[in-house]
Amino acid sequence: RLLIIDFGSQVTQLIARRLRELDVYCEIHPFQNVTSAFLQEFAPKAVILSGGPASVIDEGSPRPPSEVFELGVPVLGICYGQQVMMHMLGGKVERGHGTAEFGRAYVTPEEQRIDLLKGWFLEEREQVWMSHGDHVSAIAPGFEVYGTSPNAPFAITADLDRNFFAVQFHPEVHHTPNGKTLYQNFVELAGFTGDWTMGAYREEAIRKIRAQVGDAKVICGLSGGVDSSVAAVLIHEAIGDQLTCVFVDHGLLRQGEAEEVVTMFRDHYNMPLIHADEQELFLGALEGESDPETKRKTIGKLFIDVFQKHAGEVGGAKFLAQGTLYPDVIESVSFSGGPSVTIKSHHNVGGLPEKMGLKLVEPLRELFKDEVRALGRELGLPDSFIGRHPFPGPGLAIRCPGEITREKLDILRKADAVYIDQIRRHGLYDEIWQAFVAILPVRTVGVMGDGRTYDFACALRAVTSVDGMTADYYPFSHDFLGETATRIINEVPGINRVTYDITSKPPGTIEWE
Ligand code: XMP
Repeated sequence: RLLIIDFGSQVTQLIARRLRELDVYCEIHPFQNVTSAFLQEFAPKAVILSGGPASVIDEGSPRPPSEVFELGVPVLGICYGQQVMMHMLGGKVERGHGTAEFGRAYVTPEEQRIDLLKGWFLEEREQVWMSHGDHVSAIAPGFEVYGTSPNAPFAITADLDRNFFAVQFHPEVHHTPNGKTLYQNFVELAGFTGDWTMGAYREEAIRKIRAQVGDAKVICGLSGGVDSSVAAVLIHEAIGDQLTCVFVDHGLLRQGEAEEVVTMFRDHYNMPLIHADEQELFLGALEGESDPETKRKTIGKLFIDVFQKHAGEVGGAKFLAQGTLYPDVIESVSFSGGPSVTIKSHHNVGGLPEKMGLKLVEPLRELFKDEVRALGRELGLPDSFIGRHPFPGPGLAIRCPGEITREKLDILRKADAVYIDQIRRHGLYDEIWQAFVAILPVRTVGVMGDGRTYDFACALRAVTSVDGMTADYYPFSHDFLGETATRIINEVPGINRVTYDITSKPPGTIEWE
């Protein structure tokens, strides 16, 4: 396996991404954790030093342990990784002064072509993406130059005897179009055969779960979303009935959702599952409440109480399983301690492990969303389940701006079911990242048949997105929108007006609260 030492670049996860696309297994570890002992234990077959925001010239700036260069394995330094490598191996790094480069640049080759650059320079020059203030002003002994750019005379250097490679640009980003080839060449010369598969990941993950958990009991909050479902099935495969799932029905789920989740996990997978029907509790507590943050906090707190109560029934559980993904890990690393503004109180089971004295089992921590989906397929979860749109923890509560009533929830469930059915019938479900209906806290006048109506208005929402952080509205055809509005008004008593939300994020958010 390959070790990526992370120095805090915004794009480190893309390095992992490129390598996985090449079927090479890699792990990213923050530089603070990579000690000499860690290195020995990990025994990497190759190492990549990522970029990062620091300057190697500054005192106390991050370094890998010097043993990285004594392992006898290929090392690739990228941007900050390149500079730290030069600095530690006897070269020199200097500050900017007009040599900073940000954005597109072109690298031209030197006479001698090396294996790392197979497939490069088929045109005279290669487009690359630079983002650096400091630059290498003298390369370390043993290194030669194999590519230069106007502002980076040492854009590509290598010590071929030791298989050390250093590049100033970022081969992992989209704007270095031939970057993947460079990674491919690197892993090839490190002896990887590209035999890493989801099947292999599954085996490895099962082995790790067993080693971590032993014969202790594990509880898992199952929401019916892709991540917690895949985590649950994987852990169940590893430890069988040592795992108990708790599914909290807060009365804010979509039509048929509770039955679907319970049937699948209890009957199909034969998993011990506690179905906590707590609708009265949640809806009671939310009665009369219309402030979005209070609604979120009420739900979050009750969720923890209920989960804790039912988890207590399991008796002696020592672990809590969560479907945390790699992007969640990264976000919490790079933003931890930062003065970021709370836009919305996200609801999750944070805080619970300490309160209950539980340790975390997070078997998906190293995966991206689409890899989790691939793992789910590998584990035999049905496609209809794996491809589901995300659904927020507070559920329909945040799609019902203002006060929540059972009447509104019923209307909303029906309208949402019709809308999603429309999207599926038109073959658009997989093109859309997330789609739902929000019921608005206004009644408007309409005319149906010969009578006056005075019913709720609703808004349809559908967005495209990569990660939910930014989003754009989905450009439905007018025919689709017209047909859907007609169906909703005809099939859902209580709604007499349908609108389409065409706000992007930012400035809007995806959910309405
Ligand atoms: P917003 O509305 O913040 O949503 O643009 C971004 C994505 O996050 C989901 N979301 C949540 N998911 N707990 C969750 O598990 C929450 O409290 C929560 N709030 C929003 C939302 O559905 C969208 O996919």
